[in-house]
Amino acid sequence: MPDRHFAAAAQRNAAPILDVLRREFAEHSSVLEIGSGTGQHALTFASELTYLEWQPSDVAENCPGIRAWLKDAGLSNVLPPLELDVRHDDAGHSRFDAAFSANTAHIMDEDTVRSTNR
Ligand SMILES: C[S@@+](CC[C@H](N)C(=O)[O-])C[C@H]1O[C@@H](n2cnc3c(N)ncnc32)[C@H](O)[C@@H]1O
Repeated sequence: MPDRHFAAAAQRNAAPILDVLRREFAEHSSVLEIGSGTGQHALTFASELTYLEWQPSDVAENCPGIRAWLKDAGLSNVLPPLELDVRHDDAGHSRFDAAFSANTAHIMDEDTVRSTNR
C-alpha cells in the first residue's frame, strides 16, 4: 500500500469548506468529488456528513494515495476512488445528485473545466 500524501492546504481549508457543504448538501445523498487529490477531503467530509455517499475520484496515478487515506478509516459511506480524468472519462454523473471539487479548476484549461459539466 503506498504512503498517504499530505496537503497542508487541504488540512487548512477542510473546516470552512465543511461549513458550506453542511448547508449546500443538506438535501443531497450522493456526491461525486472530482480531483480528490490526496483523499484528505474525502475522509474528512464523509466522516462528518455520514448521510452522504461520497465518491472520490482523480486521475489514475492519484487513486492509490486516496485509497491509503481511506484504508483504516472504516467509513461505510465512502466508495473506492474512481479513476476519472474529466478530459475523456465518463463518471456516470447521473448516479450522483451532487458534485464537489476543490482547487482543481485553476489548474485545468478551459476545455477541461467545461468537461466537468458533462
Ligand atoms: C491542487 S489539487 C487539489 C486536490 C484536492 N481537491 C484538494 O483540494 O486538496 C488538483 C487536483 O486536480 C486533479 N486533476 C487535474 N486535472 C484533472 C483531470 N483532467 N481530471 C481529473 N482530475 C484532475 C489533480 O490530479 C489533483 O489531484
